Amino acid sequence: MRRSYQWHWHYIPFFSFAELSFFKIAGTSFYSSFYEEFQKRYTSPDKLSEPYKLFKEESLENILQHIDIKDKKKVLSISCGNGYVEYRLLQERPNTTVYCTELSDNIPSFLDKKFLKENLRVGFVPKCLKKEEKFDIICIIEVDYTLTNAQWVTLLKDIRHYLNDDGIITIHSTYQRHSFSSFRCIEQPIANMKALFSHFILKKNTQFWGWKRSIQEHLSLCEKANLPEVDIKTKGEALILTYYKEKYSTRNKMLLSCYLSMAERMHGEQVWFWGAGAAYKYYRQSLACLCPQGMILSPEFAQNTPAIDGMPVISPATAAARGKQLPIILFTRAQHQDIMLEQIWAYFGSNAQIHPVILY
Ligand SMILES: C[S@@+](CC[C@H](N)C(=O)[O-])C[C@H]1O[C@@H](n2cnc3c(N)ncnc32)[C@H](O)[C@@H]1O
Repeated sequence: MRRSYQWHWHYIPFFSFAELSFFKIAGTSFYSSFYEEFQKRYTSPDKLSEPYKLFKEESLENILQHIDIKDKKKVLSISCGNGYVEYRLLQERPNTTVYCTELSDNIPSFLDKKFLKENLRVGFVPKCLKKEEKFDIICIIEVDYTLTNAQWVTLLKDIRHYLNDDGIITIHSTYQRHSFSSFRCIEQPIANMKALFSHFILKKNTQFWGWKRSIQEHLSLCEKANLPEVDIKTKGEALILTYYKEKYSTRNKMLLSCYLSMAERMHGEQVWFWGAGAAYKYYRQSLACLCPQGMILSPEFAQNTPAIDGMPVISPATAAARGKQLPIILFTRAQHQDIMLEQIWAYFGSNAQIHPVILY
């Protein structure tokens, strides 16, 4: 992961209200002072910048897809900040009950005073939550960057307790595009040196803002937090990870028996596996009698993962060069199927033999 520095936010320069630290991450008092400044300038959502609103609307859109218009779901938003997303959520889904947490109760908010009095929990999670409370959706939007790996894993572990049986956790974050490349090995220290030089020599002070993680780093932290099967969605710089507590749906269970007979039919045949995400993890035990020659992963992942479950990991191009005729067992979540098919056809041609193993 990579350290990130910032010297303004919402067009408020940090030097106007705080002493900036290159080494110490922005803490509770920094955010309190920031939000005091924020309050003076942004008295209504209309005043927020258009790019900011667009970005937040994208996060909102993702939450809305889990809530039908008439649903009476209970949503918890961790570290809601100015509350723009939650304010819009209540507009779009008025039957939803929203609870929020924040570090301090004098944050400026677009949520009304009555709401804040009753539904804002102040302090660190989980301490600020009531043990018996349960939620259908827990969303965490742009918060992980403030936490070390250990803090982030602890937070994720803790919040599972507050999730209803069929609840979901949705994490909105950003990501570092390539976790390992020879260029990045040099790029990272150079960027740090530049920031250091700028801060101490040029006196252009910046604040240590947090950490930016690669998709793989995000996933491995989710796994450490016992959220093994997360859905991944990216849009530009944005990353959305969704964890479904109730993963054993009836449809998946029914499909399992179909996949078992497929595996028996193909027993002994050489095949490629493609996809090591949620679908693979869900079905791998049942397909243990297959003979995969390797696990095909997109080049970004293949580069950093030598093996999965003892299987060599290879890129699509290498696999295609070795055997375009081998059947491909495609492990995918239903919603990712089209993207995966596009990739297969791009590398293996339209005659590729595909056996889909889908997790709904
Ligand atoms: C970028 S803001 C995101 C706010 C809001 N979720 C949004 O999307 O607009 C990050 C928030 O994390 C909170 N925060 C900072 N350090 C934190 C910590 N150690 N634990 C929990 N929240 C923290 C801050 O108070 C701040 O409101």
